[in-house]
Amino acid sequence: MVNRRKFMAAAAGAVAARAATKLAVEGGQPVREKPLRADYFGTQYYDEKEQQELMEVLESGRPFRWYGPGDKPPLKVLTLEKEFAARMQTRYTLAVTSGTAALIFAMAAVQIGPGDEVILPAWTWHSCFNAIVLAGALPVFAEIDESFNIDPADIEGKITPQTKAIMAVHLQGVPCDMDRILAVARQRRIRVLEDAAQSVGASYKGRPLGSLGDIAIYSLQLNKTITAGEGGAVVTNDPALFERASRFHDLGGLRPPHEKVVGRAQLDWFIGNGFRMNEFTGGVLLAQVRKLDHILAEVCANARRVYAGIRDLPRLRLRQLPDPEGELGAFVFVGFDTKERRDRFMAAMKAENVPARPPGGSVILPTQAHIERKLTVHPAWPSFNTTRGRSIRYGAACCPRTIDVLNRFAGVALDPKFTPRDTDDIVAAIRKVYPAVLAA
Ligand SMILES: Cc1ncc(COP(=O)(O)O)c(C=O)c1O
Repeated sequence: MVNRRKFMAAAAGAVAARAATKLAVEGGQPVREKPLRADYFGTQYYDEKEQQELMEVLESGRPFRWYGPGDKPPLKVLTLEKEFAARMQTRYTLAVTSGTAALIFAMAAVQIGPGDEVILPAWTWHSCFNAIVLAGALPVFAEIDESFNIDPADIEGKITPQTKAIMAVHLQGVPCDMDRILAVARQRRIRVLEDAAQSVGASYKGRPLGSLGDIAIYSLQLNKTITAGEGGAVVTNDPALFERASRFHDLGGLRPPHEKVVGRAQLDWFIGNGFRMNEFTGGVLLAQVRKLDHILAEVCANARRVYAGIRDLPRLRLRQLPDPEGELGAFVFVGFDTKERRDRFMAAMKAENVPARPPGGSVILPTQAHIERKLTVHPAWPSFNTTRGRSIRYGAACCPRTIDVLNRFAGVALDPKFTPRDTDDIVAAIRKVYPAVLAA
């Protein structure tokens, strides 16, 4: 019996040794039997709290945020706004239907319009470009650096007398280098709009993302840290910006509950929209925002385990992290000197059943055909009909460094519910594959 146990241990050791040396892509034993896969965050935490919020709205018969039957006012969205503002350390939150809508209202709040220019990263989500164009303004791209976020060094060269705002987009859970962005912006009296859609809950030097610029937005769509399927939020410390955003997301008037929030209305009616959040969404998000720190703690702990397990690898190149303490921890990215090496790494990781992917969740906007061609819903749209709008050129030529960076990195997506065994497998796969790819 003892002999048998010894034999089994020796055999297991031999398998482990083989797995450690011979890559699965070359016929060796893979690190895992089945592919590791990260899932959506927020929905994994749905439980009786979300159910109760939904039931309360159903039973009250008050699904509309501003009024309803009975004597009591609907309070889900209003309470969400209050708690979200407190969590993000901002004075005001406006809850809206999506992150895209939030961007549109943030643009309106800082009064960006025809003739204005807004600087945004060449790699981000469509909504950023769209919101600038929908405001009638002109998008101007800046390169990203190895943090995958806008490169502060490139922003300065893109500023013109028409530049009204910089969009600091905190992509894939990592904060932008806010000290440098804020310094450039303050010096030139330019607004900073933070887009924390992909980084809800992350922070920079101890302050929640979204609390550093003039105004900020979040997405609460399925892919994000917390979710009701769809949803978005605008935050700011400035009552005038909050009031303009609130009016513009609604019909143009200021509803009494929001008038109470700002104390006294400062603006007249103007032409608005209809992007109010409903009480069902508000209720689910209320339950979710109360779980945000728990979700963050779980995913961050997993990221820390992975970093700790690979940090000593010789010549390891990680994604640049302007504040490692503040990142969401949703991915661990490693870099190479060439695309060929990066692609070899991805193929080898896939064979180990620990897939690594290129940076995702965004697109290289200047290379999108409709953007290169400056297509809009109406031919007379103001963005591209000024002298500057006609002359600006998009396309790959305006973002070579962005394309290069994105070609050289690959990362493993983390899940807050990964077990220690899962994170050990990520560490084992990177330790096995990364040095082999560097050496090849
Ligand atoms: C950076 C960024 N901004 C804005 C948005 C828009 O958010 P939504 O999908 O909620 O409209 C997204 C969505 O993924 C995003 O990634």
